[in-house]
Amino acid sequence: MDVKDFITDKYAVLTIGDQQVKLPIVIGSEGEKGIDISNLRRDTGCVTIDPSFVNTAACYSRITFIDGEQGILRYRGIPIEELVNVGSFVRTAYLLVHGVLPDDEQNRKFSKLLNRHSMLHEDMRHFFDRFPSGAHPMHILSTMINAMAAFYPNVDLLSLSEDIDISSARLISTVRTMAAFAYKKSIGEPKVYPRQDLSFCANFLNMMFDSPVAPYDIKPEAVKILNILFILHADHEQNCSTTTVRTVGSAQVNLYATISAGVSALSGPLHGGANQAVIEMLTEIANDGNPKKFVERAKDKNNPSRLMGFGHRVYKTYDPRASIIREECRKFLDAMRYNDPLLDTARELEELALNDDYFISRHLYPNVDFYSGIIYRALGIPENMFTVMFALARLPGWIAHWKEMIGSNTKITRPRQIYIGKTPDNKQ
Ligand code: CMC
Repeated sequence: MDVKDFITDKYAVLTIGDQQVKLPIVIGSEGEKGIDISNLRRDTGCVTIDPSFVNTAACYSRITFIDGEQGILRYRGIPIEELVNVGSFVRTAYLLVHGVLPDDEQNRKFSKLLNRHSMLHEDMRHFFDRFPSGAHPMHILSTMINAMAAFYPNVDLLSLSEDIDISSARLISTVRTMAAFAYKKSIGEPKVYPRQDLSFCANFLNMMFDSPVAPYDIKPEAVKILNILFILHADHEQNCSTTTVRTVGSAQVNLYATISAGVSALSGPLHGGANQAVIEMLTEIANDGNPKKFVERAKDKNNPSRLMGFGHRVYKTYDPRASIIREECRKFLDAMRYNDPLLDTARELEELALNDDYFISRHLYPNVDFYSGIIYRALGIPENMFTVMFALARLPGWIAHWKEMIGSNTKITRPRQIYIGKTPDNKQ
């Protein structure tokens, strides 16, 4: 169906002084209602004001559906619970980028493309040596992705040709290699190259933890849980980083620079950086031994602290990703016979918050970041790499949104404003 098929013959009527305008009502495929105001300024001279886009649908999209009241998340119409059962991040990535789950032949071809493009350009390898040793891996990652444009300049923006498939595979696969290289650099160990014979997530774990003197034992449970985490993080419709990708991409910037901007947006503690902040907070609470104090602090309007891993712009109930991660976290830690005291701290904190009027009345529940860090710790991934893990998983989502945006001939993103500054008469 075309976008115009979702525009109904019903209108909202807006009265401005003695002028009345009819604004078309749009109803999406899941029944979401919107009012099309795209001609409002032309017809009335007025713009709408919605700082931080709390109430604005910035685009039409066919990729991901969220029902924040009921806690539903679907990629291309498929519930995440089903995708988690299939258990393949590569198949989910294909689904997001291409719109359908791959058949066996398509999956084989896509996996081959990912393997073929998993190596970093040799000249880029030396860049790692020029970053200061304490550099945050997210800063390294966004810089390196931006630099890819210089090495692979031939992305045909407008025809969405074969080049786009190669660039997508290269991004998804190479960024994983870069992340592991950044980690190896940070601990002063030799870099480990990707292997043809390993699956996507097994390859990543191997590049992170294998060493010439201590071969890494790739446990199937570890590969499984990483697939689950990556699937659950793969897309989340118009979040801050995806909106960044769509905005930057709308200027017809190349794909690599566009994704690099998304990585930068994701690094913030209110967005992807929250998974690292959660573990820092839980550690502080565990050392202090008084979780109530932290709940009280998060409620105090004179204190900027928040309960990290709690609350969401869209979910007003338990984040469906958090429900799955909470359960899988318990199963994985049991299977690994890994006892993490922070899991008890997290459960205690959750219990306190979910029974507190402040959190109940504001509909604040654990989000995707609340339990994911505990799994990453059990996998041996250091805290400063947590947000990098989020970025690796979100790549298919960003690419899918970029592709959709370019393919629909979207205009350049350019909001309006209401100017409230000085005038020539009033210099205040
Ligand atoms: N702890 C304490 N109070 C909170 C929290 C929290 N985690 N989250 C929201 N509130 C309060 C907020 O102070 C406000 O109270 P009041 O109505 O009295 O002013 C009310 O709840 C509504 O919050 P908001 O800031 O207007 O909501 P938002 O939609 O702008 O922000 C959020 C969403 C995720 C940025 C926010 O809930 C937050 O800062 N959470 C902690 C950081 C976090 O976990 N981020 C990860 C988000 S999920 C993954 C991702 O998208 O990257």
